[in-house]
Amino acid sequence: MFALGALVLSVTMGAISYFTTRHILVSGQENAEIHSASKNATFVQQEIRDGYHTVTVLTAADYGNTRSSSLLYRRGNWYERQFSVPPSALPKSLRTMVHDGTPASLTYTRNGKPVIAVGIPIPAVHADYYEVFALTALSKTLGVLALALVGAGVATTVLGAALGRWASGRSLRPLTGVSRAAVAIASGELDTRLIAGRGDPDLAALTSSFNEMVDQLQERIEHETRFASDVSHELRSPLTTLAASLAVLEAHSADLTDASRRALELLSGDLRRFQRLVADLLEISRSDAGTADVSFEEVDPAELVRQAVAAAQRSLALETPAPRVEVDPALGGTRLLVDKRRFERVIANLLENAAHYGGGATVVRVGPAPHTNGAGHHVRVSVDDAGPGLPATERGRVFERFYRGHAANMRGAGTGTGLGLALVAEHVRLHGGKVWAEEADGGGARFTIELPGEQAEVDEEHADEVRAT
Ligand SMILES: Nc1ncnc2c1ncn2[C@@H]1O[C@H](COP(=O)(O)OP(=O)(O)OP(=O)(O)O)[C@@H](O)[C@H]1O
Ligand SMILES: [Mg+2]
Repeated sequence: MFALGALVLSVTMGAISYFTTRHILVSGQENAEIHSASKNATFVQQEIRDGYHTVTVLTAADYGNTRSSSLLYRRGNWYERQFSVPPSALPKSLRTMVHDGTPASLTYTRNGKPVIAVGIPIPAVHADYYEVFALTALSKTLGVLALALVGAGVATTVLGAALGRWASGRSLRPLTGVSRAAVAIASGELDTRLIAGRGDPDLAALTSSFNEMVDQLQERIEHETRFASDVSHELRSPLTTLAASLAVLEAHSADLTDASRRALELLSGDLRRFQRLVADLLEISRSDAGTADVSFEEVDPAELVRQAVAAAQRSLALETPAPRVEVDPALGGTRLLVDKRRFERVIANLLENAAHYGGGATVVRVGPAPHTNGAGHHVRVSVDDAGPGLPATERGRVFERFYRGHAANMRGAGTGTGLGLALVAEHVRLHGGKVWAEEADGGGARFTIELPGEQAEVDEEHADEVRAT
């Protein structure tokens, strides 16, 4: 737009200056030529009066310039000096006017060159005197002027474009900063702030109000996460008391009536679920608040998975048979840096879901991620079941908090809270990995987690260090 503006402006200004200058120069020259032609005409009149022959008058006279050609029309005959301009070259309109007794001048182009023709009637001797002047010098001047104006126009346009680029870049730079900061904040980096620019009061206002907004947002988010974690924390101790009291009651369940015993069973079932919900909430809110304690250690992925599966099978007391663990030999010496407790929770949650919604996990595979060929980098662990699987629309949503899919409504699906997979996603995120659901080969559900692995050689060194300390 700047370039276009500069172009339009320079073309307009250039055209105005060119035509004005041309008008002034041409009319100035015209006046000068009219003046000199009138002088010559007076001279011719004098000569003819003095009885000189008309031809001689024109050819012998020296009018002091060679830029012009003179013609004389008298009694039906044309007389010329220099023979460079034939009478036919004079415009008809000029000839008619002069013939009618009016002195006139006309600028026109002859053989591609601009000329001024001046016609002066000399009624005293019944003659018309014409003089044609070449405007070579003037046209050269105008040519140079036009060239200079075009050059200036081009330079202005280029300058306009450069200026526009610079100015728009400069005025958009803060916005780029704002959008970058917004993206960072949206991705969870709540500490991001805009740095106040110098010199521009408008930008300073934008910066300070943006930062203020982020401050408030951060405060609110922190407040909320702290609230959730405080609530779950506060709930823990009364729940422990309740559980202990319930255990005492359960020890004496034999003394209770059938109805009371059933009520007690319901109560203890709900209490267990409640305890688990509170524990899950606490864990999730801690990781939200960034106060989750993670202790990474270096492990062999295959061994880790085998242990995690065995531990889950034991702790969950699952009725379904333990899944097969398949290790891809392409894994090589790749090792993982994981928080074992969290990893075991991940596997336990996946196996529990498989048992609840898919008739039990069938196979757990460990191998390198296909895009990181061979040893090192990324490790994938997938848990398959042979159940009904997940509808495509649910595959992304099951990782949301408190989301329970349609499988959860089926009989025998158990009474979860919908936090299990949200916790899985949270744990995996803490490891810098990702998790997703897809369809297993047999149509069941497959949950895959991918964790960044470590290069084998690096790990050896690292392991040595660990041993030495
Ligand atoms: N293996 C699976 N096959 C089919 N659907 C599944 C499977 N695993 C999870 N789902 C669906 O995903 C939903 C969310 O699972 P998630 O583990 O987060 O919650 P939940 O099992 O319902 O409760 P929680 O684990 O907190 O006790 C489940 O309710 C279920 O509908
Ligand atoms: Mg679950």
